[in-house]
Amino acid sequence: MNTTNNTILIIGSSAGIGLSMAKQLSASGNHVIMTGRNEANLLKAAAPLKNVTAIVCDVTSEADVDQLISRVEKEFPNLNVIINNAGHAVVYSLASGADTYQNAKDEMETNFFSIARINDKILPLLSKQKEAAIVNVSSVVALVPGNLPTYSASKAALHSYTLSLRHTLADTNIKVFELMPPLVNTEFSAPIGGANGISPDEVAEHFIKGFAEDTYEIHSGKTAFIYDLFRKSPEEAFAALNAGRAPIQ
Ligand SMILES: NC(=O)c1ccc[n+]([C@@H]2O[C@H](COP(=O)([O-])OP(=O)(O)OC[C@H]3O[C@@H](n4cnc5c(N)ncnc54)[C@H](OP(=O)(O)O)[C@@H]3O)[C@@H](O)[C@H]2O)c1
Repeated sequence: MNTTNNTILIIGSSAGIGLSMAKQLSASGNHVIMTGRNEANLLKAAAPLKNVTAIVCDVTSEADVDQLISRVEKEFPNLNVIINNAGHAVVYSLASGADTYQNAKDEMETNFFSIARINDKILPLLSKQKEAAIVNVSSVVALVPGNLPTYSASKAALHSYTLSLRHTLADTNIKVFELMPPLVNTEFSAPIGGANGISPDEVAEHFIKGFAEDTYEIHSGKTAFIYDLFRKSPEEAFAALNAGRAPIQ
């Protein structure tokens, strides 16, 4: 993919990996539409950046998504890239007493259902462009589960869907990418030791490199190691990802 002169919608870009992507992509000749739920945080994140537009949107709300898409269709008819980066995780144990149904439902809502819905709704606009892309941000835990049990399951669902979407759109103008970050130092990962992770700026750099090279599945940082191990032995990959990690009690 060309990494300049795109109009890029980043779902969830007022913090973390999405904000790093917004900074780097807007600085390299793309117009970036930044979104998030909290208006104050979004406006603060967008204020120092040039070549961006901030639009408040909760991607789990169909009404918000419809408003976002109709605004984009009117104001940014050249939009050719969507990056589905918003994510939700609940830190808990599957042991007795857990509210697994509700936790998994909330995680699936943000990490899978909302992405499937917004992609359906944006496909007609992407189909009109010369070159377009859908980028789904999953995780290393899409390959092997880590200690966020149903979050891992939701990212595995996203990975499976992304493979099917890529296959379906193979002969069209729309390329389908998946970014699989390892542990990244953001607010999101603070409860699971995220301070030991790589920086969101590094992940954004890995993404832009992979995007430029048409690497459809981008294994950022340690994800590449886990991926290789997983291909040799899923059991060893599971052990490596969970080594030294006590199950959450
Ligand atoms: N951090 C890690 O270790 C790690 C590792 C692998 C994969 N990932 C994945 O990478 C993605 C980004 O994670 P991050 O660590 O950068 O998270 P983050 O620092 O918490 O940032 C998340 C961004 O998404 C927005 N957001 C959250 N829910 C939203 C919703 N329902 N609708 C619209 N925007 C929403 C947040 O703003 P508001 O709260 O204002 O909405 C914020 O701008 C997620 O999909 C996550 O699962 C993260």
